[in-house]
Amino acid sequence: MKLLMAATLISASLAASAYYSKNDYDFSPVGRVHIETEAEEQARLNPTKEENTLVAGNELGKDKFGVCAGCHGATAQGGIGPKLAGNDEEYIKEKLSKYKAGETVGAQSSMMWGVASSLSDDDIQALAGYISKTFK
Ligand code: HEC
Repeated sequence: MKLLMAATLISASLAASAYYSKNDYDFSPVGRVHIETEAEEQARLNPTKEENTLVAGNELGKDKFGVCAGCHGATAQGGIGPKLAGNDEEYIKEKLSKYKAGETVGAQSSMMWGVASSLSDDDIQALAGYISKTFK
């Protein structure tokens, strides 16, 4: 009897944890625990207005980074293009603005001109915020 109860309890908690993890909740004895999203975490860690603007931009930045990843790597570690991880926001913003204006930064700047020409100022801000905060 005790064994049956234990087995029932175990299968119930397994089913519950499968349900909660599927639904973005952690199974916990204290009840439902919401797992914060990346944007929520950023908002919590960076409560100033300026930082929150970047959080709002982060979804946009994440979206736009899809194209960049092809050359700069999925984690901005570098590939065809140089490593972007570890650069601060201002640095990335300045470089992207230069490429957008058709200016030369390094020997392969022509590879960035076409990419940057289609970026709006908001895109550049969002990308710089996203890359600098996500890939440190
Ligand atoms: C077709 C490949 C390619 C794509 C796509 C691409 N890049 Fe680049 N990127 C390069 C290359 C090559 C360089 C080096 C250019 C130079 O010599 O100035 C570069 C340079 C840069 C730099 C300057 C890095 C430094 O330290 O000087 C930044 C910032 C950058 N890219 C951001 C981006 C972002 C953001 C995107 C997406 C919107 C992107 N790149 C998409 C190839 C690419």
